[in-house]
Amino acid sequence: MKDIIIYVSKHHQNTKKVVDFLTEKFHIEAVNAENFSKDISQYDNIIFMTGIYAFHLDESINKLIENLPLENKRCFLIYTSAMDVDSFGKAFIKQIQKKNVSKCAFAHVPGFCTFGPFKLFKGVRKNHPDANDLEKVADFYQEEIADEKSKDNRG
Ligand SMILES: Cc1cc2nc3c(=O)[nH]c(=O)nc-3n(C[C@H](O)[C@H](O)[C@H](O)COP(=O)(O)O)c2cc1C
Repeated sequence: MKDIIIYVSKHHQNTKKVVDFLTEKFHIEAVNAENFSKDISQYDNIIFMTGIYAFHLDESINKLIENLPLENKRCFLIYTSAMDVDSFGKAFIKQIQKKNVSKCAFAHVPGFCTFGPFKLFKGVRKNHPDANDLEKVADFYQEEIADEKSKDNRG
């Protein structure tokens, strides 16, 4: 199985920290969504990764979810956000299921935020994602994304 991470990270590079962790640990190719030009048919596991901005996934990620031919692909969302809610993940599942993907799942990772009023408190979710968050993401990858053969060889 061939994996690709398609990501956006604009606030504190929180998402990028998780991207770098996954690429290093599992040797996954990662590309920025803003200049995405890959042939998606080459990949089996499509891992979208983004921060949450004003109650939405990043727009360029959303556009790719809408426009890429994802039928029969395994599609995943890993998002960082200040609030630990899974509504973004649930909305993603609803959106992606309409494209007849063969599997979908999501994971949330807390991310440091100094946007708007949070600046007054020197930010929320300080030091996140931390080592514990990254280990949880590694577990998510192993349990939901990696195929049986990869599990033996990676990590
Ligand atoms: C403009 C802006 C809007 C945000 N809106 C939300 C939001 O609606 N809900 C939330 O939980 N976090 C929100 N956040 C916090 C980010 O989702 C969080 O800091 C995330 O980890 C940023 O990822 P990044 O550093 O990879 O860009 C917002 C941050 C910014 C800068």
